[in-house]
Amino acid sequence: MGRAGRALRGVGKAAAVAGAVGVAGFAYASVIERNWFRLRRYEIPVLAPGSARLRVLHLSDAHLTPGRRMLIDWIRGLDAYQPDLVVNTGDSLAHPDAVTPFVDALGPLLDRPGLFVYGSNDLFSPRLKNPARYLWRSSKTDYNKRTVPDLPWRALGAAMSGSGWLDLNNHKGRLKAGGLDIAVAGVHDSHINMDRYEKVAGTADPAADLRLGVMHSPEPRNLDRFTADGYDLLLAGHTHGGQVCLPFYGTLVTNCGIDRARAWGLSRNGASWLHVSGGMGTSPYAPVRFCCRPEAALLDLVPRS
Ligand SMILES: [Fe+2]
Repeated sequence: MGRAGRALRGVGKAAAVAGAVGVAGFAYASVIERNWFRLRRYEIPVLAPGSARLRVLHLSDAHLTPGRRMLIDWIRGLDAYQPDLVVNTGDSLAHPDAVTPFVDALGPLLDRPGLFVYGSNDLFSPRLKNPARYLWRSSKTDYNKRTVPDLPWRALGAAMSGSGWLDLNNHKGRLKAGGLDIAVAGVHDSHINMDRYEKVAGTADPAADLRLGVMHSPEPRNLDRFTADGYDLLLAGHTHGGQVCLPFYGTLVTNCGIDRARAWGLSRNGASWLHVSGGMGTSPYAPVRFCCRPEAALLDLVPRS
């Protein structure tokens, strides 16, 4: 074999190895890590000294399709942590028939005090697209031509509202949970320009034990308005923590205006605490997670020292 033949054989071997690594990586990301759920736990000193503690379960971005039995069973099992309050920051659906399985997944959690907002994926069904393009542009532009929702978001909302959960899509309210008096406000999803902060604007009641702001996309313009109005804790989802992350680097993109450093987890937004959920699911057309396990969070709110 001549020099050219040996070079060609080397290129062929390298391509075969690269192909095998790619297949193994995809299999890991779609079969293993995508179902490797984790419950993150944080203690947040956000309550007045002497206050009782409050345990909040933060759920987000289930993107549920009826066949995701492992995800459904995992969500249902979270009731064992006995949260005082459940907050769902949206993108619960990814299929026209997903409302009943999602309600089934919430199960006994629906008997607890709860709040919810919608994400764009509760209204609009997922579509096949090149997932790699998130690296250079936001999915926000995908919705420019979609104005008529095709998913049963009303039925989803009716199921949660019917169990007593507060609908915070451009609404504010008040609830008791864990013995605390909580002032709450939320906005619909800014990713599809349905947020109307002006409908909830105004100083959060300083007499409440806690002021909680809720939204799907952690868009800085809304985070800053909630902070300016005195909300102590802000909860959001949407980013999926980046969904496909790089070892030793982390999140590549946030798919909204928030910075990479706050794409998931606990951080500050001025005087407010901010928790961004990395989310429990993925679009069925991008069924992978890498270095970014699916998650929910248990937030133990405790008194400031
Ligand atoms: Fe999502």
